[in-house]
Amino acid sequence: MDSKEFITHRQNMFHLMEDNSALLVFSNLHSEHKNEIHRNFYYLTGILEEGDVVLLYKKNDKLNEMIFIPPYDEFKAKWVGASLSAEEVKLRSGIFAVYDLDRWKSTIYRILSECKNLYLDFNRQSPDENLTEEEVFAKEVQEKNPWISILNAHPLFAKVRTIKSKQELNQMRKAIEITQKGIEAILSNIQPMMEYQLESYFDQAIKYHGATGYAFPTIAASGKNGCCLHYQDNTSMMQDGDLVLFDLGAHYNMYCADISRTFPVNGKFTPRQKEIYEIVLHGQEEVFKAAKPGITTKELNQILIKYFAKELKRIGLIKEDSEVSKYYYHGVSHHIGLDCHDLCEYTPLQLGSVISNEPGLYIAEENIGIRIEDDVLITETGCENLSKDIIKTVEEIEAFIAQRKGN
Ligand code: GLY
Ligand code: MN
Ligand code: MN
Repeated sequence: MDSKEFITHRQNMFHLMEDNSALLVFSNLHSEHKNEIHRNFYYLTGILEEGDVVLLYKKNDKLNEMIFIPPYDEFKAKWVGASLSAEEVKLRSGIFAVYDLDRWKSTIYRILSECKNLYLDFNRQSPDENLTEEEVFAKEVQEKNPWISILNAHPLFAKVRTIKSKQELNQMRKAIEITQKGIEAILSNIQPMMEYQLESYFDQAIKYHGATGYAFPTIAASGKNGCCLHYQDNTSMMQDGDLVLFDLGAHYNMYCADISRTFPVNGKFTPRQKEIYEIVLHGQEEVFKAAKPGITTKELNQILIKYFAKELKRIGLIKEDSEVSKYYYHGVSHHIGLDCHDLCEYTPLQLGSVISNEPGLYIAEENIGIRIEDDVLITETGCENLSKDIIKTVEEIEAFIAQRKGN
């Protein structure tokens, strides 16, 4: 994505900030993995480097922005590669005021002397964690400048990240396209083998097609394993006659795909597997029909549950609507973007949101675990299935496998 995109992201945040306020975001998350850079820092700057600090400052409705970066480190350059130069940071982010990292504190305190509020991105995952960099700094500011109100920037980030731009959608379409190649590689090689062996065809294919990583650890769950929602061992032998559930996604330029498909290990669904598979597939259709601006993901889930209740009663698996939860025990939808479970505003869906549509039925007593998951863009009047080209119907799956096996 080019610098114009990140300029727009900063404008989006700027519109939500109160006047006479500063927003400070650390790239922190000291990790060897580039995609572990703070997503909100990346969202604002397009930069994936440790130790940087970005500062937005709204004064009399005018946006000022600056970024602070570590000095050139010869040792780092020799071992893991040089950090971006000031010139490269300017080009990538569109921020022209690039300063040495050691100036960030004196600069923010100078700005705070004329400010009412300081926004920091507080996102505590658990009460046991050490204080975050933001919490440490907030404490310091409150002691030194008690007149400053410390505000949480996280809900503002949630609001802006809920709506995807054209360029963000392009990254997601590419992540999905690469994931499709990986799924086709799986289907081209499917037969009884270890779950991790079949998974490895996905790994090879997405790497070959330019994935920058995984959106999340791949789930390759055959037979009963498919009933465990976050099964990640992938160490069982897949049996002839079983289904195998894959939940996987490529990562591309920081954006995620999140797709699930369920296949017959021997290439052919049994009549019972087909019956359950088609209930899941039609359940997904019901959700597609309902997904549009104004509806909530909770309402989409209720539509699915109602459909499953009708169908599971029809085939005699349950007697009461309330028993659906025995066979379907997660939500049908979450937002997708920079994170697989993306930061979002929990409001009715809006034009430009991307969500998953992932119904599943898990019948452990029959060794059947089925999930079908596509990624969906909310449009003006409904939705667009971004992953519609990924093989899905019983007929398509069986024909694809038969053709690859040459029969
Ligand atoms: N892959 C995680 C999920 O579908 O939510
Ligand atoms: Mn998934
Ligand atoms: Mn999902």
